[in-house]
Order: sequence, then C-alpha cells, then structure tokens
Amino acid sequence: MGTIYQSPMAILKVSKLGAPVLRGRASEVETIDLKRGRLKPFFEDLMETMVEYDGTGLAAPQVNMPLRVVLYMVEAERKGRKTANLAVAPRILVNPEFEILDKTEIEDVEACLSVPFLAASVPRPKKIRVRALDPTGKPVIYEAEDFHARVVLHESDHLDGVVYLDRVKDRTSIHYTIDF
Ligand code: NI
Repeated sequence: MGTIYQSPMAILKVSKLGAPVLRGRASEVETIDLKRGRLKPFFEDLMETMVEYDGTGLAAPQVNMPLRVVLYMVEAERKGRKTANLAVAPRILVNPEFEILDKTEIEDVEACLSVPFLAASVPRPKKIRVRALDPTGKPVIYEAEDFHARVVLHESDHLDGVVYLDRVKDRTSIHYTIDF
C-alpha cells in the first residue's frame, strides 16, 4: 500500500458448499515462502475478494487454495448491530492454532460466503489464545474474546474442512438472510 502503481489485483471465485476443497484439510505454509514474499500477491487477492463480497473473514480454501491461511477483520458494528467492543483491522493468519482459555459456550449468529443466503446460531468458546505466523513469517500470539474469537474459530474451521453449519446445535435457528 502507499505506492501509486500497483499490480492489478484479482477478485477470486468463492467456492460454495459442495465443493470438495471446502471439506479437505488445508496444508501448512512454509515460513520460507512467507519470508520470500511468495504469497504476497495471493494475500492481496484474498483481501480484495473479502472486501468485494463484504465478508468478515475468508479462508484460503474458500478461494480454492488449500493452504492454512485466513484473513479476517472485526468491525465494532456490522449491519446496524453492535458486534464487538474492539475492532480489529484486516489481519492475515498463517498456520493458525488456538487454545481455549474460557470454554463457556456463547451462541451467536454466523454466516459464510461459501454458504450463501443462510445464517444460524453457533456455540463457540468465549475466549481463545491464537498462535500463528503473520504474512511476513513472524510468529504472533494474542488472545481473542467473544465475537473476535468466533471469527478466528469460524475461519480456522475452514482449514480443517469444517463449516459453521456442522457446529449448529439449535437447528431451528437456521434461517434465510434474504427475501425470495
Ligand atoms: Ni466461512
């Protein structure tokens, strides 16, 4: 960012439920590939795609790239609803791992760009510790709570072939988000 001339970015096609790539285990990224900037163009495309489709997060398998990479952000308010006390600017995590710090299950509504037109209530642990590499290969570690933890867990699930519908307990909460 900040330069006047940038290489053209691309909006990637988002795979929808039923695509095998959404049900497989994604592969670890080698640190050396990050340090050499080999995935930089992909990270830019991922960002462009998330913005284009107004997503809160996007995992690499969702754009047909079976690597352990997620991008997410947290807005303090989304679609007129307060979601979090602290906003998080768009952030890329590579090879993310987490540990549950508070396993109290919180129910909240989730949706997914790979499962269009639907939303449902999903229980997620209240607080986690996240370990990952940043886009340059540097290790990062931090804690995430409530909606922030939810977004990280939803995106990380995509790396193991899990979609949020798999975690719904109250199936009566599944609903359409559009009028037909
Ligand atoms: Ni998703």
